[in-house]
Amino acid sequence: MKYLITGGAGYIGSHTVLELLNAGHECVVVDSLINSFDESLKRVETLTGKQVEFHQVDLLDKPALEAVFAKHTFDAVVHFAALKAVGESVAKPLTYYHNNITGTLVLCEVMKAAGCKNIVFSSSATVYGDPATVPITEDFPTGATNPYGRTKLFMEDILVDLHTADADWNVVLLRYFNPVGAHASGQIGEHPQGIPNNLTPYITQTAIGLREKLSVFGGDWPTPDGTGVRDYIHVVDLALGHLAALKKLTERPGVKIYNLGTGKGFSVLDMIKAFEKAIGKPVAYQIVDRRVGDVASVYATTDLAREELGWVATRGIDEMCEDAWRWQSMNPKGFEN
Ligand code: NAD
Ligand code: WQD
Repeated sequence: MKYLITGGAGYIGSHTVLELLNAGHECVVVDSLINSFDESLKRVETLTGKQVEFHQVDLLDKPALEAVFAKHTFDAVVHFAALKAVGESVAKPLTYYHNNITGTLVLCEVMKAAGCKNIVFSSSATVYGDPATVPITEDFPTGATNPYGRTKLFMEDILVDLHTADADWNVVLLRYFNPVGAHASGQIGEHPQGIPNNLTPYITQTAIGLREKLSVFGGDWPTPDGTGVRDYIHVVDLALGHLAALKKLTERPGVKIYNLGTGKGFSVLDMIKAFEKAIGKPVAYQIVDRRVGDVASVYATTDLAREELGWVATRGIDEMCEDAWRWQSMNPKGFEN
């Protein structure tokens, strides 16, 4: 099959392109490189021994996107391209609404004109807001708490509306929980710009000496050890979830929504301990006040993805931490080495 991967040079996209190539598929990537490096795709080519056609294209540039669709006939699109920093979205809502929502509208218009109506979309557990209970099933009420989350909700709705208007559209919405880790080779991984917002790059950057110590946001949450609980999922398991979703699209399923998580919650202190084991030395940390907008506990029910996609996450937190650390220690400055 031939797939267009938007945002394919990024963290999750590059891991997905690697697994798609290994499974014998053809991938064309469009990415503006606003938050990534094409070095990731060069490394994917080396790791797989296969080629990726890359176009440095912003989704907002409709003629450039049309030119890519004029050159190829795609079986489906995997749509990763978006800005994703929650805090930045609060400071720059227009940038987020324009990039994420208008980018998706332009993509859908070009897809429609080209007759390609199959899409796998990168959604997020953020669409569940502050869930009333855990674990979270796909039919939980949605509600975003920040502009980034609202762009995800809008984009989900846009894709559902497309199917309502034209049943030829097939849409798989994948709600990721907390992607972490890296490819086992240590060659590709997450390259956060500036100071990381997310827990695991902050831990690995602290361990390598780029940061002084980790701030643990709150020790008084209503969780077993008082720190926040999340459903961390290995990025390679997540990538494989996209292969399962693309297979589902061949059944012309209409609209489907799946949580991609492990179904298990781990606390910040659990993650610190697992990293200390992987790294072989203590991680400096200090418990500070809660971060505004955080919630106590978020983890998935994964039954639907198992039953309908035949997909389960198999990698545990030790492997997540070992792989994240291998990537960090082999590439202290990420792709900028
Ligand atoms: P990432 O920033 O590494 O990848 C996104 C890619 O999209 C980047 O390469 C960026 O350059 C590109 N991009 C952004 N806007 C673009 C545009 N207008 N045109 C073309 N390219 C553009 O992020 P990621 O972690 O790989 O996330 C991939 C997707 O998954 C995003 O949609 C994100 O919102 C979603 N998601 C991520 C997480 C997470 O914690 N990493 C969790 C849930 C959902
Ligand atoms: C995890 C836990 C923090 C950093 C975010 C987005 C979400 C999704 C995934 C895209 C929490 C704690 C963190 C630190 C800490 N992204 N923490 N010290 O907030 O669950 O989800 O990324 O869709 O939309 O909101 O992930 O990695 O920031 O935090 O103590 O320096 O680690 O409080 O309990 P989060 P995270």
